[in-house]
Amino acid sequence: MPHDPARDSAQDTARDTAHEVVRDLLTRSNALGADPRFTNYAGGNTSAKGTATDPVTGAEVELLWVKGSGGDLGTLTEDGLAVLRLDRVRALTGVYPGVEREDEMVAAFDFCLHGKGGAAPSIDTAMHALVGAAHVDHLHPDAGIALACAADGEELTAKVFGDKVVWVPWRRPGFQLGLDIAAIEAANPQAVGTVLGGHGITAWGGTSEEAEANSRWIIETAERFLAENSVAEPFGPLLDGYAPLPRAERRARAAALAPVLRGIASHDRPQVGHFSDADVVLDFLAREQHPRLAALGTSCPDHFLRTKVKPLVLDLPPTADLERVTARLAELHEAYRRDYQAYYDRHATPGSPAIRGADPLVVLVPGVGMFTYGKDAQTARVAGEFYVNAVNVMRGAEGVSTYAPIDEAEKFRIEYWALEEAKLARLPRPRPLATRIALVTGAASGIGKAIATRLAAEGACVVVADLDLEKAQAAAAAIGSTDVAVGVAADVSDAAAVAAAVDEAVLAFGGLDLVVNNAGLSISKPLLETTEADWDLQHDVMAKGSFLVSQATARVLIAQGLGGDVVYISSKNSVFAGPNNIAYSAVKADQAHQVRLLAAELGEHGIKVNGINPDGVVRGSGIFAGGWGAKRAAVYGVPEEELGAYYAQRTLLKREVLPEHVAAAVVVLTAGELSHTTGLHIPVDAGVAAAFLR
Ligand SMILES: NC(=O)c1ccc[n+]([C@@H]2O[C@H](COP(=O)([O-])OP(=O)(O)OC[C@H]3O[C@@H](n4cnc5c(N)ncnc54)[C@H](O)[C@@H]3O)[C@@H](O)[C@H]2O)c1
Ligand SMILES: [Zn+2]
Repeated sequence: MPHDPARDSAQDTARDTAHEVVRDLLTRSNALGADPRFTNYAGGNTSAKGTATDPVTGAEVELLWVKGSGGDLGTLTEDGLAVLRLDRVRALTGVYPGVEREDEMVAAFDFCLHGKGGAAPSIDTAMHALVGAAHVDHLHPDAGIALACAADGEELTAKVFGDKVVWVPWRRPGFQLGLDIAAIEAANPQAVGTVLGGHGITAWGGTSEEAEANSRWIIETAERFLAENSVAEPFGPLLDGYAPLPRAERRARAAALAPVLRGIASHDRPQVGHFSDADVVLDFLAREQHPRLAALGTSCPDHFLRTKVKPLVLDLPPTADLERVTARLAELHEAYRRDYQAYYDRHATPGSPAIRGADPLVVLVPGVGMFTYGKDAQTARVAGEFYVNAVNVMRGAEGVSTYAPIDEAEKFRIEYWALEEAKLARLPRPRPLATRIALVTGAASGIGKAIATRLAAEGACVVVADLDLEKAQAAAAAIGSTDVAVGVAADVSDAAAVAAAVDEAVLAFGGLDLVVNNAGLSISKPLLETTEADWDLQHDVMAKGSFLVSQATARVLIAQGLGGDVVYISSKNSVFAGPNNIAYSAVKADQAHQVRLLAAELGEHGIKVNGINPDGVVRGSGIFAGGWGAKRAAVYGVPEEELGAYYAQRTLLKREVLPEHVAAAVVVLTAGELSHTTGLHIPVDAGVAAAFLR
């Protein structure tokens, strides 16, 4: 075919337009997603229709760009968009077999993709395609859901918006909901959007700016209406004795309860926890109506998988005796499990996915706060955000009406939806240390830092504890976000400091599973030169320090009832006898025997206690960099930078030992393969015959 320049420029124009459409869609999505009032994390979706050139025919085709499954509007990028041929998605109406089989349409979306189609199309794709307007936003704003979950939501919607926003009765998201909304749009040319009963809102516009303005207008109008018309105390009057404890007491109480609660949440499968004492939550729990409302459960369809249909609520005031609280929680947990199993049995059909555990994912403790759970820290944190959304929704709805979320059978149809189950089945296999919460002492440097880094890489949440807060936080930040690692300050030789660090760890991730006693220092001197202060310092940090850390963390491990691991970084010197090392080597032998003693004592709680004997780890070690390495190098007559290689030549394997090799041994001991091993020491020394264990 001869080259046709006119056609080239038509293609350029189509490409430019497509580019602009995508750019505007992302700008709008990011703006709407950035505000938690507008939509919950990863909730809602946006779309735009436009034209592009079909690379096969050279003709112009109409496309739909729509946020794909998963991902969050606030951080949406082009990779998160599904791209479909509009004519083909709309043609699905011709083969649509009816609401009973609407889920089949999701697989049909794959036959509507443009090219590879980008991200996987979500269940809401039909809504975006079938609505005629070029730009569509579907959002889960607290104020919108408050109207959507009010007992008289339909009348309220008419009262608030007149005929500009139309009520759509609840229906599970899917093809039929898309048809419903499209029919409303066609029948109401004056309308700019809908309130979706029991769910959220959908707004549209001819341009991207118009759609965004309409979304904002609906949300802000709903917010204003709720603010201006609410009764004074939507959650009822304050309850006697349920006022929040002062902050320090509240945190201490939360830390004391956290291990018990994590044990409860992890009965069926281990969970990571998140704690929040946000004012919204404390106020809700301080008021008369909270038990009734909490029992009604959360509202938005996005919530159930993350929050379960309802939370577990402690029915005792914050000043109740801790033992009584623990006993009561055990009763409430049992009742919760029975109740959840009954809910499952009431609604499950032969084709339903298996029950996914009967433990609560949200636990509310009046006067103290909210504990939420998930497969990792981010999921646990988002479950908490969702419950805050739910509290806001309940406040809004109760302020102007009565909170009336969708009924239990519909909640079940969402929670155990085959499409959701398929999504869960597609998730990657969890990493070996997923859900494990680790505390590593002395982890701002050397071996400890390598251990913390490796544990996080294997899926653990890690608490980096060290003398200096800034260094601990910097080491944690180098590992990952605060959903992965946090830094805390602790001098392990100070019991109060250790207790405070353990509390912080427990509040950060909900509990503890894996403790590494690594903090240490080395003063290498002959007997006659070793001062009393040298002796005391070595023993305070390493013998007493590990004792204090083991004691404070064992309290948590025992209260959780989930077993656990304690690992001591002892040393070759715990068994090897050489000159000029009396204080260091003696205290390393002390640590090594702590391993055996605690293995004997903690076995009945399922807690394994093991040790590692490293030797000659020069690179990255603060101990060697702090002058000791220079001294050893001088003794052996080698340049300091060759000390590691020099040590390597003394080993059986002739290999230099690095911090990462010690970290690997910690993983071997804790990641599951050595599940039946306790009281063991693993040498990581490249082979030193004089330090063989026998
Ligand atoms: N480097 C080796 O060859 C070697 C060999 C055998 C055993 N070890 C042991 O490994 C552990 C780590 O040593 P490294 O070589 O990585 O040294 P390092 O100096 O690089 O790291 C030790 C960390 O412990 C911290 N620390 C010291 N006192 C503390 C206290 N009171 N409370 C909290 N943190 C404290 C330090 O601030 C430092 O960050 C030590 O127990 C050491 O005895 C090291
Ligand atoms: Zn939705």
